[in-house]
Amino acid sequence: MSAESTIGIIMNGASGRMGYRQHLVRSILAIRDQGGVELSDGRRVQVRPMLVGRSAEKLREIAQRHDIADYTTNLDEALADESFEVYADFLVTKARVPAITKAIAAGKAIYTEKPTAETFEDALQLARAAAEAGVKNGVVHDKLYLPGLRKLRRLIDAGFFGRILSVRGEFGYWVFEGDGIPAQRPSWNYRAEDGGGIVVDMFPHWNYVLENLFGRVESVYAHTATHIPTRYDERGQAYQATADDAAYGIFELAGGVVAEFNSSWDVRVNRDELLELQVDGTEGSAVVGLFGCKVQHRSATPRPTWNPDVPDGHDYLADWHEVPENEVFENGFKVQWEEFLRHVAEDAPNEYDFLSGARGVLLAEKGLESAREGRRIELPEVTV
Ligand SMILES: NC(=O)c1ccc[n+]([C@@H]2O[C@H](COP(=O)([O-])OP(=O)(O)OC[C@H]3O[C@@H](n4cnc5c(N)ncnc54)[C@H](O)[C@@H]3O)[C@@H](O)[C@H]2O)c1
Repeated sequence: MSAESTIGIIMNGASGRMGYRQHLVRSILAIRDQGGVELSDGRRVQVRPMLVGRSAEKLREIAQRHDIADYTTNLDEALADESFEVYADFLVTKARVPAITKAIAAGKAIYTEKPTAETFEDALQLARAAAEAGVKNGVVHDKLYLPGLRKLRRLIDAGFFGRILSVRGEFGYWVFEGDGIPAQRPSWNYRAEDGGGIVVDMFPHWNYVLENLFGRVESVYAHTATHIPTRYDERGQAYQATADDAAYGIFELAGGVVAEFNSSWDVRVNRDELLELQVDGTEGSAVVGLFGCKVQHRSATPRPTWNPDVPDGHDYLADWHEVPENEVFENGFKVQWEEFLRHVAEDAPNEYDFLSGARGVLLAEKGLESAREGRRIELPEVTV
């Protein structure tokens, strides 16, 4: 299929974990291979990536492997190229604000990984600067595009739950310390001074999941811990973990729903999936993972009675029913990229912008403040 026009996308951090796998290979190259993105009037827009990074050698290798013509280690040069309309940022969080600030000044449309900044003040400033410059902007909200969460959305829209009472989230797995078995995540994730920490990593996700599915987060109470004090980096050297690696949070939402999330890189998985949410409502409940979604309706709810003297032979897990797929769910990063490209090409709506990103950073910041001070903290509404 041939495309009528092309959008040039500067991809900064394209050799990183997220930049390479999710954004380059699974999103932009997949879009390129399918002949671009289809717009509402049937026209197609093709994509043309330009790789940006610090190692020319790495970039050259990726460019050759994937037949990409453009790559550079010079961000200023890339931003000066007017044939590239979009700037995309997958850098370590610490490096994001200066790079995006340059992209705003260059008038690019901007798409970025979360968190958008290390502090709420910086995140809000980015949202304000983008609004003032009139540049389109978007932030990854990938969890909303997971098949399990899309099935959950269908249940909410259908009124399946009645009045939703609570949401319990369990996220995490064992991240190896790095001696012997290599760690599954970059070492900067465990150093606060390098922008790491599970609160700054995961609370931005929980914020957009909660506000888009259940209601705005009005307050947070969090307890954090650095359970594993020593880890080993990419070169096998011991370092002190200075960032939180587990967070236990309670969030009160507009409308009265109570949400509670355990986030931890120090737990062994005894669940169907690495992220699981249980939603309980007056009419029904659901247990949702990345892919799966099982439900139990009020009319099919067993009636347990507490009796510690008699072993309970009831199979509670058998009382749940899997929600069918009923549609094809593509990679969530790719689906959101397609939406953002339509936003750029034909002004299609995009709610997942820098302001939404800033609300996520605010929740992380207030979560850490709550943990430091040992108290519940209210969140103000955020406007540009
Ligand atoms: N959406 C998600 O589910 C998700 C998951 C993991 C990470 N992330 C976010 O994605 C971003 C990247 O994380 P990652 O796991 O891919 O990390 P990574 O360490 O694998 O990649 C980071 C990239 O930034 C570059 N970089 C590092 N320091 C830099 C500096 N000082 N200046 C310029 N470039 C620099 C590296 O060369 C690399 O390309 C982070 O902001 C992280 O929070 C999002």
